[in-house]
Amino acid sequence: MEPDPAWLPAAAFRAVGSRHTLVRGAGPLVDTVYRELAAACGRFGGSVARGTDGGPCDLVLELGDDADRLGDEGFTCRREDGRTTVSAAGGAGLLYGLFHVVRLGEDAFRGRRPRKTHVPALALRMLDHWDNVAVHPVMGQVERGYAGGSLFWADGRARGELERVRRYGRLLAACGINAVAVNNVNVHETEAHLLTDRIGEVADIAGALRPYGVRTHLSVTFAAPLVLGGLPTADPLDERVRAWWTEATARVYEAIPDFGGYVVKADSEGQPGPFAYGRSHADGANMLAAALAPHGGTVHWRAFVYDHRQDWRDRTTDRARAAYDHFAPLDGEFADNAVLQVKHGPMDFQVREPVSPLIGAMPRTRLAVELQATQEYTGQQRHVCWLGPMWSEVLRFRPDGVPVGGLADALVAVSNVGADPFWTGHPLAQANLYTFGRLAWQPDADPGGILDEWIRLTFGPEPAAGLRAVLEGSWRTYEKYTAPLGVGFMVQPGHHYGPSVDGYEYSPWGTYHFADRDGVGVDRSRATGTGFAGQYPKPWAELYESPETCPDELLLFFHHVSYGHTLHSGKTVIQHIYDTHFEGVEEVEAAREVWASLAGLVDPARHARVAERFEEQLRSAREWRDQVNSYFFRKSGVPDAHGRRIY
Ligand code: GCU
Repeated sequence: MEPDPAWLPAAAFRAVGSRHTLVRGAGPLVDTVYRELAAACGRFGGSVARGTDGGPCDLVLELGDDADRLGDEGFTCRREDGRTTVSAAGGAGLLYGLFHVVRLGEDAFRGRRPRKTHVPALALRMLDHWDNVAVHPVMGQVERGYAGGSLFWADGRARGELERVRRYGRLLAACGINAVAVNNVNVHETEAHLLTDRIGEVADIAGALRPYGVRTHLSVTFAAPLVLGGLPTADPLDERVRAWWTEATARVYEAIPDFGGYVVKADSEGQPGPFAYGRSHADGANMLAAALAPHGGTVHWRAFVYDHRQDWRDRTTDRARAAYDHFAPLDGEFADNAVLQVKHGPMDFQVREPVSPLIGAMPRTRLAVELQATQEYTGQQRHVCWLGPMWSEVLRFRPDGVPVGGLADALVAVSNVGADPFWTGHPLAQANLYTFGRLAWQPDADPGGILDEWIRLTFGPEPAAGLRAVLEGSWRTYEKYTAPLGVGFMVQPGHHYGPSVDGYEYSPWGTYHFADRDGVGVDRSRATGTGFAGQYPKPWAELYESPETCPDELLLFFHHVSYGHTLHSGKTVIQHIYDTHFEGVEEVEAAREVWASLAGLVDPARHARVAERFEEQLRSAREWRDQVNSYFFRKSGVPDAHGRRIY
């Protein structure tokens, strides 16, 4: 089956493809622009010329604008005297400019448009694939993947479907993404070899992504000098180790001259790291940064470091504190080409978390904020859950004056894409990928506007209102029927799909809700709890410190309160739990009806796939509702004020 066209169906190119266009400039990405236009014109009857030919035309795409202002990726767009002109200083900018005109459609060719400058707010807009080369006995081909196998790898080898990879790069460029890490952050034995003897396979992928301005990165194991180099140590301050990385990196650049750099998960969930040698994470990151620096590469060093062998009896250790406690003291010690990659929340991609207090706490360290497009904890691409509003809240949050989107140097998402013909398993999960790219380009963009854009491109105008109704509130709906008020988890251990209220309660993973007969939640205050609230600057530290001022949706993240505690909404905690769980299921039922009504307006294969997933979502949402409600009814003995059925 041909892969789904996603947000680049042929029809999206009608406006440009039926015009006369002139392309001026040279270079590989300008060639891509030309090829895109030639294909569109072939279909819709327009024409495209290259060079300085001054004949009449509707659209000019040209290199030559102010490089200082636009950089390689920016562009300007204007329309005057019946001609639309896109100017860029670099080929990437011209390509983004072309996709901008595609998004505008016919509007690009109407009236006058004053010259407007478009420059990405973040230089690095990246997807991390948690793809394994060899099928992992527990995690499979793609760790936390819900879209079939890997786009890149199958059963221990490169999949070799480079045309598919090229199309992927095209979709990514069309929403502004410019970097991809091609393997899992948990680097197992087979995958370790991608760095050395199997770099050719990575180079092939890089070759397929390059025409769309997407650079390739690799996750590497910190133990590589031991496992690949035969050295007795991986100590980052050992000269032999440093020399090994220098040489290995030089060979990577021989194979992939525009290689982006390394992603590293060290001393985290069992991965090796500098702690084994009594070295700091800055020592570890800087060693790799030094090897990459001569080639212009970057190391993405993940801050997801915590004790995953915690004793649940120990109430003083708080996983939420870990990233800040480990990394904040290292501010200023990281090399210029090292980027600290921080998950957006202090725990692990839950449906609701506060913004990580580490974000903003290291002003002298380059920062990548990591989001999770793959829906590990948000319905695993069987549930509709459009994450745009959540990500936008994170990016607009101001730890200390400046919004997260302004503090970050890079935005990274764990990819939700696989070998599935719809790319993302659930066709509507494509909206998350698209939204991620557009928010990485402009973090203060209105997510609703991005959603509309995605709908228009992907589905055309007719089903737009229905699609918006299905997607717009889907994250809040998901939040309603799962773990309440920011407490998180309550999922089945291991695979993390479906409810299990106490699934992690007595586990070593540090993710507890502490429900008893009187109340629920984690006391993270400074006064009586773990002190986590004190990791924030003012005013947040104070706001989160007290249950009186803590926002309702985060109450149980920060406080242990009684079931009778009254929220700002006026409801008690227990009644809120009951009400939201009933409402959440009702909202899924309503969305499913809306979807059913779109049959005939949506491509039948897409319609059928989504309809099928809605059945599962509804089943699962009911299960969540009944388990969570019954659990809290049994613990608290408090009946539902509305007398609804609880088991
Ligand atoms: C989560 C996820 C793991 C992943 C880890 C990470 O814990 O469940 O599969 O490896 O995050 O971000 O490194």
